[in-house]
Amino acid sequence: MEDLSTLEKDLMDTISAADDLAALDDARVAALGRKGRLTALMRGLGDLDPDQRKDRAVALNALKDRINQAIETRKAALDAVAIEARLANEKIDVTLPIADENVGRIHPVSHVTDEVIAIFADMGFEVAEGPDIEDDFHNFTALNIPAEHPARQMHDTFYFSSADESERKLLRTHTSPVQIRHMQTTKPPHRIIVPGRTYRCDSDQTHTPMFHQVEGLVVDTETHMGHLKGCLLEFARAFFGIDDLAMRFRPSYFPFTEPSAEMDIGCTRAGGELIVGEGDDWLEILGCGMVHPRVLEAVGLDATIYQGFAFGMGIDRLAMLKYGIPDLRAFFDSDLRWLRHFGFVPLDVPTLAEGLTL
Ligand code: DAH
Repeated sequence: MEDLSTLEKDLMDTISAADDLAALDDARVAALGRKGRLTALMRGLGDLDPDQRKDRAVALNALKDRINQAIETRKAALDAVAIEARLANEKIDVTLPIADENVGRIHPVSHVTDEVIAIFADMGFEVAEGPDIEDDFHNFTALNIPAEHPARQMHDTFYFSSADESERKLLRTHTSPVQIRHMQTTKPPHRIIVPGRTYRCDSDQTHTPMFHQVEGLVVDTETHMGHLKGCLLEFARAFFGIDDLAMRFRPSYFPFTEPSAEMDIGCTRAGGELIVGEGDDWLEILGCGMVHPRVLEAVGLDATIYQGFAFGMGIDRLAMLKYGIPDLRAFFDSDLRWLRHFGFVPLDVPTLAEGLTL
Protein backbone atom coordinates (compact mmCIF):
# COMPACT_ATOMS: atom_id res chain seq x y z
CA MET A 1 0.00 0.00 0.00
CA GLU A 2 1.36 3.40 -0.96
CA ASP A 3 2.92 5.32 1.91
CA LEU A 4 0.68 8.30 2.54
CA SER A 5 3.33 10.57 3.98
CA THR A 6 5.49 10.29 0.84
CA LEU A 7 2.43 10.89 -1.31
CA GLU A 8 1.47 13.91 0.79
CA LYS A 9 4.95 15.37 0.54
CA ASP A 10 4.97 14.85 -3.26
CA LEU A 11 1.60 16.47 -3.75
CA MET A 12 2.34 19.36 -1.40
CA ASP A 13 5.63 20.01 -3.22
CA THR A 14 3.89 20.25 -6.59
CA ILE A 15 1.26 22.56 -5.11
CA SER A 16 3.76 24.93 -3.60
CA ALA A 17 5.90 24.80 -6.74
CA ALA A 18 2.95 25.88 -8.91
CA ASP A 19 3.78 29.42 -9.95
CA ASP A 20 0.60 30.24 -11.81
CA LEU A 21 -3.03 29.24 -11.75
CA ALA A 22 -2.65 26.82 -14.64
CA ALA A 23 0.17 24.92 -12.90
CA LEU A 24 -1.88 24.85 -9.71
CA ASP A 25 -4.79 23.35 -11.55
CA ASP A 26 -2.50 20.70 -13.02
CA ALA A 27 -1.38 19.85 -9.47
CA ARG A 28 -5.01 19.59 -8.36
CA VAL A 29 -5.89 17.27 -11.24
CA ALA A 30 -2.80 15.11 -10.53
CA ALA A 31 -4.00 14.64 -6.94
CA LEU A 32 -7.78 14.80 -7.00
CA GLY A 33 -8.79 14.55 -10.66
CA ARG A 34 -10.49 11.51 -12.10
CA LYS A 35 -7.13 9.82 -12.62
CA GLY A 36 -5.47 11.57 -9.70
CA ARG A 37 -3.22 9.72 -7.28
CA LEU A 38 -5.44 10.31 -4.27
CA THR A 39 -8.55 9.44 -6.24
CA ALA A 40 -6.97 6.13 -7.22
CA LEU A 41 -6.30 5.32 -3.58
CA MET A 42 -9.86 6.21 -2.63
CA ARG A 43 -11.13 3.97 -5.35
CA GLY A 44 -8.95 1.14 -3.98
CA LEU A 45 -10.69 1.29 -0.59
CA GLY A 46 -13.34 -1.14 -1.74
CA ASP A 47 -10.74 -3.90 -2.10
CA LEU A 48 -9.62 -3.65 1.51
CA ASP A 49 -10.76 -5.67 4.53
CA PRO A 50 -13.55 -3.90 6.33
CA ASP A 51 -11.43 -3.27 9.47
CA GLN A 52 -8.51 -1.85 7.47
CA ARG A 53 -10.80 0.10 5.21
CA LYS A 54 -12.15 2.35 7.93
CA ASP A 55 -8.78 3.64 9.19
CA ARG A 56 -7.52 4.02 5.66
CA ALA A 57 -10.64 5.95 4.64
CA VAL A 58 -10.25 8.33 7.57
CA ALA A 59 -6.59 8.89 6.71
CA LEU A 60 -7.33 9.44 3.00
CA ASN A 61 -10.12 11.89 3.71
CA ALA A 62 -7.96 13.85 6.10
CA LEU A 63 -5.23 13.95 3.47
CA LYS A 64 -7.74 15.07 0.87
CA ASP A 65 -8.79 17.93 3.16
CA ARG A 66 -5.20 19.02 3.69
CA ILE A 67 -4.55 18.93 -0.05
CA ASN A 68 -7.66 20.96 -0.76
CA GLN A 69 -6.65 23.42 1.91
CA ALA A 70 -3.15 23.71 0.49
CA ILE A 71 -4.60 24.33 -2.99
CA GLU A 72 -6.86 27.09 -1.62
CA THR A 73 -4.01 28.75 0.21
CA ARG A 74 -1.77 28.59 -2.83
CA LYS A 75 -4.56 29.92 -5.03
CA ALA A 76 -5.12 32.89 -2.72
CA ALA A 77 -1.41 33.68 -2.84
CA LEU A 78 -1.31 33.41 -6.64
CA ASP A 79 -4.45 35.58 -6.95
CA ALA A 80 -2.86 38.25 -4.80
CA VAL A 81 0.27 38.21 -6.95
CA ALA A 82 -1.84 38.39 -10.11
CA ILE A 83 -3.76 41.41 -8.77
CA GLU A 84 -0.57 43.15 -7.74
CA ALA A 85 0.85 42.56 -11.19
CA ARG A 86 -2.30 43.88 -12.82
CA LEU A 87 -2.37 46.96 -10.64
CA ALA A 88 1.25 47.66 -11.41
CA ASN A 89 0.61 47.08 -15.10
CA GLU A 90 -2.58 49.07 -15.49
CA LYS A 91 -1.52 51.94 -13.27
CA ILE A 92 -2.20 55.37 -14.76
CA ASP A 93 -0.55 58.54 -13.66
CA VAL A 94 -3.36 61.08 -13.61
CA THR A 95 -0.85 63.89 -13.24
CA LEU A 96 0.58 63.26 -16.69
CA PRO A 97 -0.51 65.71 -19.38
CA ILE A 98 -3.16 64.32 -21.72
CA ALA A 99 -2.35 63.40 -25.26
CA ASP A 100 -4.00 66.33 -27.03
CA GLU A 101 -5.08 64.55 -30.15
CA ASN A 102 -7.18 61.91 -28.44
CA VAL A 103 -9.62 63.91 -26.41
CA GLY A 104 -11.73 65.94 -28.80
CA ARG A 105 -12.29 69.65 -28.53
CA ILE A 106 -14.50 72.02 -26.60
CA HIS A 107 -16.59 74.24 -28.88
CA PRO A 108 -15.68 77.97 -28.72
CA VAL A 109 -19.24 78.79 -27.60
CA SER A 110 -18.94 76.47 -24.59
CA HIS A 111 -15.49 77.78 -23.85
CA VAL A 112 -16.47 81.44 -24.00
CA THR A 113 -19.56 80.69 -21.90
CA ASP A 114 -17.27 79.19 -19.26
CA GLU A 115 -15.01 82.23 -19.43
CA VAL A 116 -17.94 84.62 -18.98
CA ILE A 117 -19.28 82.57 -16.08
CA ALA A 118 -15.85 82.52 -14.41
CA ILE A 119 -15.59 86.32 -14.57
CA PHE A 120 -19.08 87.04 -13.25
CA ALA A 121 -18.93 84.29 -10.64
CA ASP A 122 -15.91 86.09 -9.27
CA MET A 123 -18.07 89.21 -8.91
CA GLY A 124 -20.71 87.25 -6.98
CA PHE A 125 -23.15 86.43 -9.80
CA GLU A 126 -25.10 83.18 -9.91
CA VAL A 127 -26.01 81.35 -13.12
CA ALA A 128 -29.75 81.13 -13.85
CA GLU A 129 -31.52 79.33 -16.67
CA GLY A 130 -34.91 79.31 -18.33
CA PRO A 131 -36.79 77.49 -21.09
CA ASP A 132 -36.03 77.93 -24.81
CA ILE A 133 -39.76 77.72 -25.56
CA GLU A 134 -41.35 80.81 -24.10
CA ASP A 135 -44.68 82.56 -24.01
CA ASP A 136 -45.54 86.07 -25.03
CA PHE A 137 -45.70 87.34 -21.48
CA HIS A 138 -42.16 86.42 -20.47
CA ASN A 139 -40.47 87.11 -23.80
CA PHE A 140 -42.25 90.42 -24.47
CA THR A 141 -45.07 91.78 -22.34
CA ALA A 142 -43.38 91.62 -18.93
CA LEU A 143 -40.30 93.19 -20.50
CA ASN A 144 -42.36 96.26 -21.39
CA ILE A 145 -42.83 95.18 -24.99
CA PRO A 146 -46.65 95.17 -25.27
CA ALA A 147 -48.51 93.78 -28.29
CA GLU A 148 -48.09 96.02 -31.35
CA HIS A 149 -44.82 97.41 -29.98
CA PRO A 150 -42.46 97.82 -32.95
CA ALA A 151 -39.71 95.95 -31.05
CA ARG A 152 -41.72 92.77 -31.58
CA GLN A 153 -41.21 93.02 -35.32
CA MET A 154 -37.52 93.66 -34.87
CA HIS A 155 -37.15 90.36 -33.11
CA ASP A 156 -38.05 88.16 -36.13
CA THR A 157 -39.72 85.71 -33.81
CA PHE A 158 -40.27 82.01 -34.55
CA TYR A 159 -43.81 81.24 -33.41
CA PHE A 160 -45.35 77.84 -32.85
CA SER A 161 -48.72 77.37 -34.47
CA SER A 162 -51.68 77.44 -32.14
CA ALA A 163 -55.42 77.74 -32.61
CA ASP A 164 -55.60 80.40 -29.95
CA GLU A 165 -53.26 83.23 -30.83
CA SER A 166 -53.02 84.54 -27.30
CA GLU A 167 -51.59 81.22 -26.16
CA ARG A 168 -49.15 80.48 -28.92
CA LYS A 169 -45.64 79.69 -27.79
CA LEU A 170 -42.47 81.00 -29.35
CA LEU A 171 -38.74 80.34 -29.33
CA ARG A 172 -37.25 82.95 -27.06
CA THR A 173 -35.68 85.77 -29.04
CA HIS A 174 -33.36 86.77 -26.20
CA THR A 175 -32.32 85.60 -22.73
CA SER A 176 -34.14 88.53 -21.11
CA PRO A 177 -37.28 86.49 -20.25
CA VAL A 178 -35.17 84.66 -17.68
CA GLN A 179 -34.90 88.00 -15.81
CA ILE A 180 -38.68 87.84 -15.42
CA ARG A 181 -38.76 84.17 -14.43
CA HIS A 182 -36.02 84.67 -11.90
CA MET A 183 -37.65 87.70 -10.29
CA GLN A 184 -41.01 85.91 -10.19
CA THR A 185 -39.64 82.95 -8.31
CA THR A 186 -36.98 84.35 -5.97
CA LYS A 187 -36.67 87.30 -3.65
CA PRO A 188 -34.33 90.25 -4.19
CA PRO A 189 -31.48 91.07 -4.07
CA HIS A 190 -30.79 89.51 -7.47
CA ARG A 191 -27.44 89.05 -9.08
CA ILE A 192 -27.60 86.59 -11.97
CA ILE A 193 -26.19 85.86 -15.37
CA VAL A 194 -28.09 83.76 -17.87
CA PRO A 195 -26.18 82.08 -20.67
CA GLY A 196 -28.34 80.29 -23.19
CA ARG A 197 -29.66 79.66 -26.68
CA THR A 198 -31.78 82.24 -28.44
CA TYR A 199 -33.60 82.18 -31.79
CA ARG A 200 -34.42 84.63 -34.54
CA CYS A 201 -35.43 84.12 -38.13
CA ASP A 202 -32.25 85.54 -39.61
CA SER A 203 -29.24 84.13 -41.45
CA ASP A 204 -26.11 85.70 -42.92
CA GLN A 205 -22.40 85.89 -42.14
CA THR A 206 -23.02 87.33 -38.68
CA HIS A 207 -26.50 85.92 -37.93
CA THR A 208 -27.73 82.36 -37.47
CA PRO A 209 -31.32 81.33 -36.62
CA MET A 210 -30.03 79.91 -33.33
CA PHE A 211 -27.37 81.84 -31.45
CA HIS A 212 -26.25 82.38 -27.87
CA GLN A 213 -26.63 85.24 -25.46
CA VAL A 214 -25.72 85.95 -21.91
CA GLU A 215 -28.00 88.14 -19.89
CA GLY A 216 -27.13 89.88 -16.65
CA LEU A 217 -29.42 91.22 -13.96
CA VAL A 218 -28.70 92.97 -10.68
CA VAL A 219 -31.53 94.23 -8.49
CA ASP A 220 -31.12 95.71 -5.04
CA THR A 221 -32.19 98.76 -3.07
CA GLU A 222 -29.20 100.90 -3.96
CA THR A 223 -28.13 99.87 -7.40
CA HIS A 224 -27.13 102.67 -9.78
CA MET A 225 -25.46 103.28 -13.10
CA GLY A 226 -22.05 103.51 -11.52
CA HIS A 227 -22.41 99.84 -10.55
CA LEU A 228 -23.45 98.99 -14.08
CA LYS A 229 -20.44 100.72 -15.58
CA GLY A 230 -17.98 99.32 -13.06
CA CYS A 231 -19.26 95.80 -13.48
CA LEU A 232 -19.14 95.82 -17.28
CA LEU A 233 -15.77 97.54 -17.33
CA GLU A 234 -14.39 94.84 -15.09
CA PHE A 235 -15.93 92.17 -17.30
CA ALA A 236 -14.60 93.50 -20.60
CA ARG A 237 -11.10 94.02 -19.26
CA ALA A 238 -10.97 90.52 -17.78
CA PHE A 239 -12.51 88.91 -20.85
CA PHE A 240 -10.17 90.51 -23.37
CA GLY A 241 -7.25 90.46 -20.94
CA ILE A 242 -6.48 94.15 -21.50
CA ASP A 243 -6.13 96.19 -18.31
CA ASP A 244 -6.56 99.59 -19.89
CA LEU A 245 -9.14 98.58 -22.49
CA ALA A 246 -10.88 101.75 -23.69
CA MET A 247 -14.65 101.77 -23.28
CA ARG A 248 -17.54 104.12 -23.89
CA PHE A 249 -21.26 104.03 -23.22
CA ARG A 250 -23.57 105.40 -25.90
CA PRO A 251 -27.20 106.25 -25.18
CA SER A 252 -29.51 103.72 -26.77
CA TYR A 253 -33.01 102.33 -26.47
CA PHE A 254 -34.37 99.07 -25.09
CA PRO A 255 -37.98 98.81 -23.88
CA PHE A 256 -36.93 97.03 -20.67
CA THR A 257 -34.31 99.54 -19.52
CA GLU A 258 -34.36 103.27 -18.84
CA PRO A 259 -31.93 104.82 -19.38
CA SER A 260 -30.44 102.39 -21.91
CA ALA A 261 -26.97 102.28 -23.35
CA GLU A 262 -24.70 100.33 -25.62
CA MET A 263 -21.15 99.67 -24.62
CA ASP A 264 -18.31 99.98 -27.12
CA ILE A 265 -14.74 98.90 -26.67
CA GLY A 266 -11.71 100.44 -28.34
CA CYS A 267 -10.37 98.74 -31.44
CA THR A 268 -8.70 99.33 -34.75
CA ARG A 269 -9.74 98.15 -38.19
CA ALA A 270 -6.61 99.46 -39.88
CA GLY A 271 -5.34 97.14 -42.60
CA GLY A 272 -8.67 95.35 -42.82
CA GLU A 273 -8.06 93.41 -39.60
CA LEU A 274 -10.01 93.99 -36.43
CA ILE A 275 -7.83 94.32 -33.33
CA VAL A 276 -9.51 94.82 -29.98
CA GLY A 277 -7.89 97.19 -27.50
CA GLU A 278 -5.86 99.28 -29.93
CA GLY A 279 -6.47 102.33 -32.09
CA ASP A 280 -9.21 104.91 -31.93
CA ASP A 281 -12.14 103.09 -33.47
CA TRP A 282 -15.09 101.62 -31.55
CA LEU A 283 -16.80 98.24 -31.52
CA GLU A 284 -20.19 97.62 -29.94
CA ILE A 285 -20.25 94.60 -27.65
CA LEU A 286 -23.38 94.78 -25.52
CA GLY A 287 -26.66 96.46 -24.61
CA CYS A 288 -27.46 97.50 -21.08
CA GLY A 289 -29.38 99.89 -18.87
CA MET A 290 -31.24 100.46 -15.63
CA VAL A 291 -34.16 98.04 -15.28
CA HIS A 292 -37.36 99.84 -16.34
CA PRO A 293 -39.77 100.40 -13.41
CA ARG A 294 -42.50 98.69 -15.45
CA VAL A 295 -40.42 95.52 -15.57
CA LEU A 296 -40.06 95.57 -11.80
CA GLU A 297 -43.79 96.16 -11.46
CA ALA A 298 -44.57 93.28 -13.83
CA VAL A 299 -42.95 90.91 -11.32
CA GLY A 300 -44.49 92.58 -8.29
CA LEU A 301 -41.47 94.53 -7.05
CA ASP A 302 -41.95 98.02 -5.65
CA ALA A 303 -40.00 100.27 -8.03
CA THR A 304 -39.74 102.98 -5.38
CA ILE A 305 -37.68 100.58 -3.25
CA TYR A 306 -35.79 98.47 -5.80
CA GLN A 307 -33.64 99.47 -8.73
CA GLY A 308 -31.39 97.40 -10.88
CA PHE A 309 -29.35 97.14 -14.00
CA ALA A 310 -29.36 94.60 -16.79
CA PHE A 311 -27.24 93.79 -19.78
CA GLY A 312 -27.22 91.38 -22.66
CA MET A 313 -24.59 90.30 -25.15
CA GLY A 314 -23.99 87.73 -27.85
CA ILE A 315 -21.71 84.89 -26.82
CA ASP A 316 -20.97 83.81 -30.38
CA ARG A 317 -20.01 87.36 -31.25
CA LEU A 318 -17.70 87.54 -28.23
CA ALA A 319 -16.09 84.28 -29.37
CA MET A 320 -15.61 85.61 -32.91
CA LEU A 321 -14.02 88.81 -31.60
CA LYS A 322 -11.74 87.23 -29.06
CA TYR A 323 -10.57 84.29 -31.11
CA GLY A 324 -10.66 85.83 -34.59
CA ILE A 325 -13.28 83.47 -36.02
CA PRO A 326 -14.56 85.03 -39.24
CA ASP A 327 -17.90 83.36 -40.06
CA LEU A 328 -20.62 82.73 -37.50
CA ARG A 329 -22.38 80.11 -39.62
CA ALA A 330 -19.38 77.78 -39.35
CA PHE A 331 -20.02 77.60 -35.59
CA PHE A 332 -22.96 75.30 -36.20
CA ASP A 333 -21.77 73.27 -39.20
CA SER A 334 -20.34 70.44 -37.02
CA ASP A 335 -17.23 70.39 -39.20
CA LEU A 336 -14.55 68.52 -37.27
CA ARG A 337 -11.71 70.27 -39.09
CA TRP A 338 -13.13 73.62 -37.97
CA LEU A 339 -13.53 72.34 -34.42
CA ARG A 340 -9.97 71.02 -34.30
CA HIS A 341 -8.76 74.43 -35.42
CA PHE A 342 -10.89 76.72 -33.27
CA GLY A 343 -11.79 74.36 -30.40
CA PHE A 344 -10.18 74.15 -26.97
CA VAL A 345 -8.45 71.33 -25.13
CA PRO A 346 -10.96 69.98 -22.58
CA LEU A 347 -8.70 70.31 -19.57
CA ASP A 348 -8.03 73.99 -20.25
CA VAL A 349 -10.90 75.02 -17.98
CA PRO A 350 -10.96 78.80 -17.79
CA THR A 351 -10.38 80.17 -14.31
CA LEU A 352 -9.54 83.67 -13.19
CA ALA A 353 -6.80 82.40 -10.89
CA GLU A 354 -4.86 80.98 -13.82
CA GLY A 355 -5.81 83.78 -16.16
CA LEU A 356 -8.38 83.19 -18.88
CA THR A 357 -7.35 81.90 -22.28
CA LEU A 358 -5.83 84.95 -23.90
N1 DAH B 1 -32.36 91.52 -25.00
C1 DAH B 1 -31.54 92.41 -25.82
C2 DAH B 1 -31.41 91.82 -27.20
O1 DAH B 1 -31.59 90.66 -27.38
C3 DAH B 1 -30.17 92.58 -25.21
C4 DAH B 1 -30.23 93.38 -23.96
C5 DAH B 1 -30.07 94.76 -24.02
C6 DAH B 1 -30.48 92.78 -22.75
C7 DAH B 1 -30.12 95.51 -22.87
C8 DAH B 1 -30.54 93.54 -21.60
C9 DAH B 1 -30.37 94.92 -21.68
O2 DAH B 1 -30.76 93.00 -20.39
O3 DAH B 1 -30.42 95.65 -20.54
O4 DAH B 1 -31.11 92.52 -28.11
